[in-house]
Amino acid sequence: MILDKEWRILTIGDGDLSFSASLQKHFSPRALTASVYDPLSIMTRKYNDTFYQYLKNEKIQTLFDFNVCDKKTWGDLKQHSFDVVIFQFPLVPAFQNFDEYKAHAKNSNINVLNRRLLRQFLLNSFKYFLDEKGQQLCFITSKDVKPYRQWNIESALHMHTNIHYLGSIAFDINKFPGYKIRNVDRDKHVRDTRGETYMWSLQKKHTLSSQLHKLPYHGENFCAICRAGPFSTENDKQVHQASKKHLQMLDFEQAWLKEINKN
Ligand SMILES: C[S@@+](CC[C@H](N)C(=O)[O-])C[C@H]1O[C@@H](n2cnc3c(N)ncnc32)[C@H](O)[C@@H]1O
Repeated sequence: MILDKEWRILTIGDGDLSFSASLQKHFSPRALTASVYDPLSIMTRKYNDTFYQYLKNEKIQTLFDFNVCDKKTWGDLKQHSFDVVIFQFPLVPAFQNFDEYKAHAKNSNINVLNRRLLRQFLLNSFKYFLDEKGQQLCFITSKDVKPYRQWNIESALHMHTNIHYLGSIAFDINKFPGYKIRNVDRDKHVRDTRGETYMWSLQKKHTLSSQLHKLPYHGENFCAICRAGPFSTENDKQVHQASKKHLQMLDFEQAWLKEINKN
């Protein structure tokens, strides 16, 4: 992850606050606000750690019950005052019961729900959280394995907006001592597979751009949505296009386009 000590940072969905605590302890940015989706009581019950106490002692603003999609939950957050908004390993929470599932996901699928969360994260960050005169950056760190890679993070989330995808960089957890990547609902660490931090801005060419990996899967000889190729022959390409993996990705993309066009 590329960060500058002069930046004002907002973290989103920081399950147990270990990422924000690590940032504060080992990086000491100019300003930091941390936010957690769960209320304090639930976070304490799930993790029972001391990261919140540490942030409190450091006088870091920490907001609980903070849903990035719902303005009404943002409480005392000072809007338009950040340089970068970071969402580490996002994932929609599991439904508690069938009624909740019916209310949120009946006409959708879990792939669309995750993309919807991340699109909303980008839209709200640029509209409400980031300072127009600041760095204007949004970071999402995710894993390059199923189901996360099926969200088509680099291309799908900012479709039909004025937001630009800048590129990505490998996430090095060793730079964040004490950070425990959490499972969405349980007191478990997520398996330690490689993470990648994806970056967006309203500026098409940001000063960060030259340090980032660009989309390598574009052009006739590749399949961008599956991140496959280059195909060595036309036959290879056709075999890929007939594969279960590709057909499933096509379904996801179609469902997502329907979702975007609906809104
Ligand atoms: C896999 S966990 C990762 C937790 C933490 N960011 C980490 O890196 O360990 C996914 C997190 O996304 C949060 N989340 C899901 N939906 C959210 C929303 N609408 N607003 C804010 N956070 C959300 C969950 O509460 C959960 O903490």
